[in-house]
Amino acid sequence: MSKLSVSHLLGIKYLTTSDIELIFETASHFKEVINRPIKKVPSLRDVTIANLFFENSTRTKLSFELAQKRLSADVINFSASNSSVKKGESLIDTVNNILSMKVDMVVMRHPNPGAAMFLSKHVDASIVNAGDGAHEHPTQALLDCFSIREKLGDIAGKKVVIVGDILHSRVALSNIFALKKLGAEVMVCGPLTLIPKHIESLGVTVETNLQKALQWADVANVLRVQFERMRTSFFPSNREYAMQYGITKQLVEQLDNDLLIMHPGPINRGVEISSDVADSEHAIILDQVENGVAVRMAILYLLASKIEQ
Ligand code: CP
Repeated sequence: MSKLSVSHLLGIKYLTTSDIELIFETASHFKEVINRPIKKVPSLRDVTIANLFFENSTRTKLSFELAQKRLSADVINFSASNSSVKKGESLIDTVNNILSMKVDMVVMRHPNPGAAMFLSKHVDASIVNAGDGAHEHPTQALLDCFSIREKLGDIAGKKVVIVGDILHSRVALSNIFALKKLGAEVMVCGPLTLIPKHIESLGVTVETNLQKALQWADVANVLRVQFERMRTSFFPSNREYAMQYGITKQLVEQLDNDLLIMHPGPINRGVEISSDVADSEHAIILDQVENGVAVRMAILYLLASKIEQ
């Protein structure tokens, strides 16, 4: 059996193109499994996984938990908001206490960039980064690329524009790494206040005109405006943002090209995307969520096979 080159999933930056292809191949198999009447397989029986969420989540948390249960793993869930973290317990103390209960893998979401990397250097378990601040969200990028490949056949040569709040987005950085490794052309589009300086050094182009960007693209991955990470205003008002950078039905209908529209969720309806576009046949937002379970099953299965060596 082929193996991943890594023992942890900390970021797309650390994966090879062969790792990504192996994850996709394994995810395709698991997608077939979870569409059977009996959706559960015994692959991770006797593997114990802790899901540690220090930041809110709906999709990622539920998707990991379902993936683990479909693989027959034993699962424990931890949310910082109702834990002893509130009494001042440190990250390392929290995790070491959980690991002393004989946990093999840790899935962690944390508001600090680098938290998953830090953990991987200090504890004896396989670490999966479920989002670390505005740094990386590798499983989101993998499920996004898997979904593009499923709809368009291949990623190499495809034109993908990432629209919106690039500055505060871990989804943007992980998507840029993954799409570039798989041979896509990548553009970012948004107000210059929400585009990091020197982003071109990652091999992407910058466009501030949304209409031009959408006309160029095969795929638009529309990002949420991350109000919770903003300590100051980056644009005059939500209404103005929606007028300049919101994806509307009128904009989509003006295009000559057949655009695939994605969004990692949660959506600010009426800000970065209108409801009629989010719910239209152009959008594959719920397909992304469905694929998230298969992709996370693949990652957990492949990382667990490294533990057993
Ligand atoms: N896409 C995503 O990470 O969603 P959640 O924050 O709900 O997990």
